[in-house]
Amino acid sequence: MALLEVENLGVRFTRRDGPHVDVVQDVSFALDAGGTLGIVGESGSGKSQTVMALLGLLASNGQSSGHARLRGEDLLAMKPAALNRIRGDRIAMIFQDPMTSLNPFLTIERQMTEALQQHRGVTRQEARNRAIEALERVRIPDAARRIGRYPHEFSGGMRQRVLIAAALMMEPDVLIADEPTTALDVTVQAQILALLREMNRERGTAILLITHDMGVVAELCDDVMVMYASRAVEKARTAALFARPQHPYTAGLLGALPRLDAPVGATLSTIPGNPPMAGARTAGCAFAPRCAYAFERCHIQAPVLQAEGTRSRACHLPADIALQTASGVFA
Ligand SMILES: Nc1ncnc2c1ncn2[C@@H]1O[C@H](COP(=O)(O)OP(=O)(O)O)[C@@H](O)[C@H]1O
Ligand code: SF4
Ligand SMILES: [Mg+2]
Repeated sequence: MALLEVENLGVRFTRRDGPHVDVVQDVSFALDAGGTLGIVGESGSGKSQTVMALLGLLASNGQSSGHARLRGEDLLAMKPAALNRIRGDRIAMIFQDPMTSLNPFLTIERQMTEALQQHRGVTRQEARNRAIEALERVRIPDAARRIGRYPHEFSGGMRQRVLIAAALMMEPDVLIADEPTTALDVTVQAQILALLREMNRERGTAILLITHDMGVVAELCDDVMVMYASRAVEKARTAALFARPQHPYTAGLLGALPRLDAPVGATLSTIPGNPPMAGARTAGCAFAPRCAYAFERCHIQAPVLQAEGTRSRACHLPADIALQTASGVFA
């Protein structure tokens, strides 16, 4: 049994001035103990709402459906108090902007030690020692002194490291990281990814990483799920997906990656056009207006996600077609 098993997850928001919108539809995936799964897709594709639903953190006009079992227990059916206990204990989270998870009015020490005291009944002194140790592990210099400081006294990259340290300390089963490096410069980004990898390899923490950046997926994830307009369009082992994408949208995302052999100053190819508005209904494939391969059937019938061996995709094209991107043909 997978550690986290998500089955037919849906997220629907009601709107005061119109019909409801489905921002996550029929999404299923599994994360094994010690595994690393990336969820990738453009902004607005439903990545964040997918994890917010798992954690019971949807906005008040949101409603989830389906199942999300952690060690067999359905998170979506849990009472808020029970889910609260799991969050920050068995599941830790880090977000793009660490300030959304840090309280500006409390010292780092207070914020790092509270969960440990609450969930694990550890004494204040012991919790402080463990927090300092965790800060040292993520290479915060002079941790014993810095732990008494407030979040605004840390840089963005340091704040992200503080959150990783806080997660490390709890030794969660799953770490959910939603665009953890998006706001950071490239060097700091690489350090944060290295820390996550270390947490996965050394402690066996399973990682669910959300990003719009295929490069970040390549760095960290063994498996990947590509989302487009609220649905999963391709799922595969990362190496297989990079070697040979089977969905035109995935090929487009890979074409937007910088390549080492590209001429200096070459612009990145991006997929022309924009994703549909949330809740927009089309008869055919949601990607058809932007797809260079679209044919008649694509405008009439929506493709469904179909498994073939270890991967799956939602596209009417034959699986063995060689997809072209600006940076080459994936044959
Ligand atoms: N409270 C809400 N009410 C209505 N729509 C929402 C609400 N929160 C998010 N959305 C919409 O849900 C869609 C998916 O958002 P999100 O999961 O954040 O995308 P991503 O993380 O992939 O960029 C977006 O179109 C967003 O506008
Ligand atoms: S189903 Fe058609 S429009 Fe959709 S991705 Fe495949 S080829 Fe393109
Ligand atoms: Mg998001």
